[in-house]
Amino acid sequence: MTWEELEQKCKSCTLCPLGLTKTNTVFGAGNKNAILMFVGEAPGESEDKMGIPFVGRAGKLLDKYLEVVEIPREDVYIANMLKCRPPKNRDPEESEQDQCIGYLREQVRLIKPKMIVCLGRISAMRLIKPDYKITKEHGTWVKKGEFEMSAVYHPSLLLRGNVKYKEEMLADMKEVARRYRQYKQST
Ligand code: URA
Repeated sequence: MTWEELEQKCKSCTLCPLGLTKTNTVFGAGNKNAILMFVGEAPGESEDKMGIPFVGRAGKLLDKYLEVVEIPREDVYIANMLKCRPPKNRDPEESEQDQCIGYLREQVRLIKPKMIVCLGRISAMRLIKPDYKITKEHGTWVKKGEFEMSAVYHPSLLLRGNVKYKEEMLADMKEVARRYRQYKQST
């Protein structure tokens, strides 16, 4: 499937009921040849309005971390587990993730990133391992098939103001950037 076909299919998706309540499909955004891909949870209100991932408050905070570690946002690809907003921003249901994950798989297949970084526990539990403990395991790396995977805190958790989490996030993002630059140099 090509990008255009995939995006079209995703935008007209009726596999789960979220397609009926969304304003816009939030397919994903960024560099289609990215070395580094971030995977969040699901669109929030601002993302649903604009059709772009991580543009609300959590997204602005993600942008700050990317800026501090000197990774241009346009160099990476950002997607979510779910492409449509769950009402009132509730956690994605298992069945919704089951229906939606095919789109993410295709995105990964087309991009062929070297690194996938999960933003928060929902994507980490789905993409790394079902019992992933984000507070204990964030910032650790595993090799999965063709790529290296890690998870960091979800920026919306950091918005709630825990200083320790913010320090840990900065350290994790510095390591993301270090590995990213290594890959960049070798290509
Ligand atoms: N939270 C997410 O997980 N994804 C977004 O796109 C926005 C907020």
